[in-house]
Amino acid sequence: MPKLNVNVDHVATVREARGTNEPDPVLAAFIAELAGAHGIVVHLREDRRHIQDRDLHILRQTVKTKLNMEMAATNEMVTIASQTKPDMVTLVPEKREELTTEGGLDVIGNIKTVSKAVKRLRDAGIFVSLFIDPNSKQIKASKEIGADMVELHTGLYANSNSESKRDKELRKIEESVGIALDQELRVTAGHGLDYTNVEPIAWIEEIEELNIGHSIISRSVIVGMEQAVSEMLVLCS
Ligand code: PXP
Repeated sequence: MPKLNVNVDHVATVREARGTNEPDPVLAAFIAELAGAHGIVVHLREDRRHIQDRDLHILRQTVKTKLNMEMAATNEMVTIASQTKPDMVTLVPEKREELTTEGGLDVIGNIKTVSKAVKRLRDAGIFVSLFIDPNSKQIKASKEIGADMVELHTGLYANSNSESKRDKELRKIEESVGIALDQELRVTAGHGLDYTNVEPIAWIEEIEELNIGHSIISRSVIVGMEQAVSEMLVLCS
């Protein structure tokens, strides 16, 4: 049974839509933990479109489970992470115009930048995961540059519009988990997972954690955070 980490970025998205101080992602994280979430994830983006530096600093003080900071492999972000010391960092690709993280990090194509960021983070004592597509070359490159973990991008699986495509993507993820374990990397997964598609991914035993945001926050608007997290926990068990 994988652990469930809840991404609270979109609580901040609603707040930023009005530029006020509610809803508060710190409070949302607190309730998610009370409901049984095993960790909290936030993405501090270069454009600060949702999570702000202040949120990260307060969450560092209040999260009792595990704080996973998603960020781009830039000097600015590495400096913030090294000072804030989240429990782990996940390096993700970032483009200003994207609605959300659209694909995995191209570790091979950006090997110098990514390996420099991994080294600086690990030197600061931070556990590092790389968010990559389920692709053997990217997994091996992640190992070569010293990552501790890979988060396999489940977006193509989640967005497949036919059963055969979904099965194909699921098989790719299963194979990638095996390759990552052979490389002695730890494995998580996420992106696009929701209440209808999470189970086949949760059933892959070696995946330690799932990182889920949009679907849980969306449901929480209707049924409340505690229930939204509890229902997802049931599907992950
Ligand atoms: N994992 C990573 C690396 C992400 O960037 C995101 C989106 O912020 C997620 C997981 C969660 O994706 P979703 O919001 O679609 O559940």
